[in-house]
Amino acid sequence: MRFEENFATRVSRQKASEIRELLKLLDQPGILSFAGGIPDPALFPTQAFGQAFTDALEGNAQALQYSVSEGYLPLREWIVSEMARNGVTCSVDNIMITSGSQQALDYLGKLFLSPGDTALVGWPTYLGALAAFNAYEPAFDQLSINGNRAAEDYQSKAAATGGQVKFAYLSADFANPTGETVDRQGREGVLQLADALDCAVIEDAAYQSLRYDGAPVPPILALEQAQKGSIEACRTIYCGSFSKTLSPGLRVGWVVAATPVIKQLVLMKQAADLHSATINQMAIHRVAEGGFDAHVAGVRDVYRRRRDAMLQALDRFMPKGVQWTKPEGGMFVWVTLPAELDGADLLARSLQTEKVAFVPGRAFFADGSGGNSIRLSFSCADETMIAEGMARLGRLITAAKVGQA
Ligand SMILES: Cc1ncc(COP(=O)(O)O)c(C=O)c1O
Repeated sequence: MRFEENFATRVSRQKASEIRELLKLLDQPGILSFAGGIPDPALFPTQAFGQAFTDALEGNAQALQYSVSEGYLPLREWIVSEMARNGVTCSVDNIMITSGSQQALDYLGKLFLSPGDTALVGWPTYLGALAAFNAYEPAFDQLSINGNRAAEDYQSKAAATGGQVKFAYLSADFANPTGETVDRQGREGVLQLADALDCAVIEDAAYQSLRYDGAPVPPILALEQAQKGSIEACRTIYCGSFSKTLSPGLRVGWVVAATPVIKQLVLMKQAADLHSATINQMAIHRVAEGGFDAHVAGVRDVYRRRRDAMLQALDRFMPKGVQWTKPEGGMFVWVTLPAELDGADLLARSLQTEKVAFVPGRAFFADGSGGNSIRLSFSCADETMIAEGMARLGRLITAAKVGQA
């Protein structure tokens, strides 16, 4: 059978992630990789999870049983109190547990996007969000933060592709890939724009707990609730995750939103995978309850040192004409190269010469622009490796500039 001829049209937009393909090349010996962007496994609370799984199984076969699509109630109760600490008042009815926040992005795409509708995203934005939304055949338009683009402009562009603006998606804290944070004014601007467009805001909070310095900015959902009173009046849908703090492999995340959204998401989850793994939710709950703050404080200390090491090494080794972000948290530094250099070409050259790996920036742009940028991750590298890697990257860029001159 020629399967390809029978695939649905939406599949044509599905492409292999440039990052995953790249990671396959990076197992060669001698490569210093800053490409991954995954948490350091040395920081996982393995002992606490060992105990939590034992406890969950002890005389409790329910840990291995089917469970409700909304998610494990004690975990949702823990999230209610965690959200309250971040300025959001909600109840367990406003929360659904997902299999990682990636599943929330897929479901929200499915919930809102008909073919031709528009999703507003950053230029650049999280590649996994573009992939998740892409399956629902939307158009993408650039979300301008702190800009002065009028709502009518977004609307007329959306009408031209036969749909409406359905949501603005953003990661306001230490975004992947830039590491940048949207300030309070920017967040309020996004809410104002969403009010004018009458569309949802999807707040991706995957990195929110990983702040290393500077004052925290309230989540967009908290700012909106302060304006409108009840979570039921809010258009912001908050996607949280335990992946960057406790464990990505257990695949536990959550959505917080007004109940009509949660009700639809629960129906969607019933149809898709019934529920997230029961025992994983129980284990996450036990570990979170037993010392989330203390654990995350330890994780932050390690990543803060790595972030500092990377910024210092960039200062020391980058040639003139290269710029980079100074993230207050998260895992990434975003480097803008001189306009004539291309990140993908640079990586190809690097694998032959300096053997330092990073992600070319183009993949993070819905329109394929941004060729002269690269993403560096400091999460899995110690300070010595960071210094050596940035020295190599500096030499690589310098040589490429000379080659272009
Ligand atoms: C911005 C952002 N959102 C969501 C995710 C998905 O994470 P998870 O599904 O593990 O919660 C990631 C993973 O890298 C991410 O960087």
